[in-house]
Amino acid sequence: MLRVENLVAGYGRTRILHGVSLNVPKGGLVALLGGNGTGKSTTLKSIVGLVDVQEGQVVLNDQVVNTIPPEQRSALGLSLVPQGKEVFAAMSVEENLLMGAFHRRRDRAGIAADLEGVYQRFKRLRERRKVNAGMLSGGERQMLSIGRSLMARPSVLLLDEPSAALAPRIVEEIAEAILGLRALGLTLLLVEQNVGMALDIADYIYVIRGGRIAYEREVGSGIAMEELQEFYLGGQEH
Ligand SMILES: Nc1ncnc2c1ncn2[C@@H]1O[C@H](COP(=O)(O)OP(=O)(O)OP(=O)(O)O)[C@@H](O)[C@H]1O
Ligand SMILES: [Mg+2]
Repeated sequence: MLRVENLVAGYGRTRILHGVSLNVPKGGLVALLGGNGTGKSTTLKSIVGLVDVQEGQVVLNDQVVNTIPPEQRSALGLSLVPQGKEVFAAMSVEENLLMGAFHRRRDRAGIAADLEGVYQRFKRLRERRKVNAGMLSGGERQMLSIGRSLMARPSVLLLDEPSAALAPRIVEEIAEAILGLRALGLTLLLVEQNVGMALDIADYIYVIRGGRIAYEREVGSGIAMEELQEFYLGGQEH
C-alpha cells in the first residue's frame, strides 16, 4: 500500500536520510523506532511532502507520490499526525477538528458524520468540544491531533511519537485508540521511542539509525529487547 524506496532527503544541502526503504502493507501497523535525531520525523515528512525527496521514491497504491504537492497526497489518503501534539490553542476542540476537514468544507453532511465518528471514538473530546484546545491535557491534545487527522478521511495514517511525554495509563489509552483505528481498516505507520508500546501493537518494526534502516523484523517472532537495544546504541551517529 505504502512503499518508501531508497529515500534520500534532508534540509537544504544537508542529507538526513541516506536511502531509507520501508513497506507498509494495507491494513498493517508498522512501527519505525529510533533514537533522537535519527531521521524518523524526516521520513514521515518526506512521505507527506513537507520535506523534499532528493532521491528514491514514495509509492502509494502503485502511484509515485513524491512528485505531487502535499494537498494532493492528502487527497489520495495520506495524513500525518505531527510530533508534539500540536493544536490551535486559541480555538475550541470542535473548531480544531473542523480544520481537519477544511479542504472539503462544503460537504456539511459528511463532515457532521465524521465529527460524530471522532466523538464516538474519543468521548473526552465530545465532553470538551467547546473548550479551548490550549486547556486540554497532553493525552487529550494527542487525541485531538489524531481526531483532526481523521477528519481528512485518510487511508494511511502516519503517527509521530503519539505516546511521548504521557503518563503510562494515557499511553495505554493511545495504544488502544491506535488499535481501534487499525480495526477500522486504516493502514498505520507509527513512529515511536516507546519500544514497549510499539512492540505491543505493531506487526512489523524498523529501527532507523543515522538516517539508515539498521534493523527490521516481524513482531511476534521473539524479538528480544536486548537485541533491539543494540541497534539503539550509537543512535546519535550521522
Ligand atoms: N527543519 C530542519 N532544518 C534543518 N535540520 C533539521 C530540520 N529538522 C530536523 N533537522 C535535523 O535532521 C536530523 C533528523 O531529525 P528528525 O526530526 O528527523 O529526527 P527524529 O528521529 O524525528 O528525532 P526525535 O525523536 O528527536 O523527534 C536532526 O539532526 C535534526 O537536527
Ligand atoms: Mg521526530
